[in-house]
Amino acid sequence: MKVAFFSTKPYDRRFFDEANKEFGHEITYFETRLTRQTLKLAEGFECACAFVNDQLEASVLIALAAQGTRLIALRCAGFNNVDIHSAKELGITVVRVPAYSPYAVAEHTVGLMLALNRKIYWANSRVKEGNFALDGLMGFDIRSSTVGLVGTGKIGECVASIMHGFGCRLLAHDKYRNSVCEEEYGVEYVSLDELFAQSDIVSLHCPLFTDTHHLINHDAIAKMKRGVMIINTSRGALIDSKAAVEGLKSGKIGYLGIDVYEEEEELFFEDKTFEIRTDDVFARLTTFPNVVITGHQAYFTQEAVARIAHTTLENITSYERGEELVNVVRAD
Ligand code: NAI
Repeated sequence: MKVAFFSTKPYDRRFFDEANKEFGHEITYFETRLTRQTLKLAEGFECACAFVNDQLEASVLIALAAQGTRLIALRCAGFNNVDIHSAKELGITVVRVPAYSPYAVAEHTVGLMLALNRKIYWANSRVKEGNFALDGLMGFDIRSSTVGLVGTGKIGECVASIMHGFGCRLLAHDKYRNSVCEEEYGVEYVSLDELFAQSDIVSLHCPLFTDTHHLINHDAIAKMKRGVMIINTSRGALIDSKAAVEGLKSGKIGYLGIDVYEEEEELFFEDKTFEIRTDDVFARLTTFPNVVITGHQAYFTQEAVARIAHTTLENITSYERGEELVNVVRAD
């Protein structure tokens, strides 16, 4: 099938070209994101392959449908950037990669916790400058702390498994209980308010939906322990960034580790070294000594990218052959 591939990086091409030896799709790579301004590039392609920050709102989907696009192949798990109801009305099928390596995201999550707690980023720069003083670097035993997981799906479960190894107390909040988390990792399900009140570390692993938008806002932060660590490797808009800045300024938030940011489309995945930063909230976040930010790289391991490539191309082949689409995104 002819595939217009948006938001391409050299590493995407490497992994997709390798995986495509098995599938033989006709891929045209575009570096640009898929937006209202760039959608013309997809003209004549039955499939558009998109990533986390491509913009697939209703107006874009209407134009894509008019140009002949019938399939949106997301090469990610989250689909918050696609207007699924409009896609359905337009007869556009949307497929995604629901699981490729929850371990990758979970391991990065724990990496952020450790980096913040033991101030590894500060310690490393100090040592490289010949400063071996330990002042300011004191951490806490994670073993003695309570970790609250918001969402215990595939990634939340992996985080639970790793944190269980640390020996800490695990709380969780989810619409559904995960029996593996309960039975194997001793996770205790509580209300969201209880999780906020009792956790030393709050880690977000639920999807971004209307009801989870700004889940971490002023009110939620007010319910947390003073000095709480908040980790978000899920989706940026789960956190009200302005409220987080206030929480950091007041000392209520003791540590913030984020791999995602609510306005990341204009920033992440590009080298902006010499560009003037216009996002004041993001700029403020980068000034705190107790904030660690990575640019949506939690998924970025060899194993994960190889599986993303394989599953995405397999989804396209299944659509082409009219087979049952196991990874279709439904509008309900
Ligand atoms: P999943 O679908 O397996 O699990 C999500 C869990 O969240 C489910 O158990 C669901 O019941 C729960 N949930 C839904 N609404 C909730 C709410 N209001 N409160 C508490 N729990 C709620 O998804 P998975 O694979 O674990 O991924 C989680 C999220 O991680 C994805 O939605 C995606 O946004 C993000 N992600 C981030 C990546 C990165 O590179 N930073 C890579 C992959 C995923």
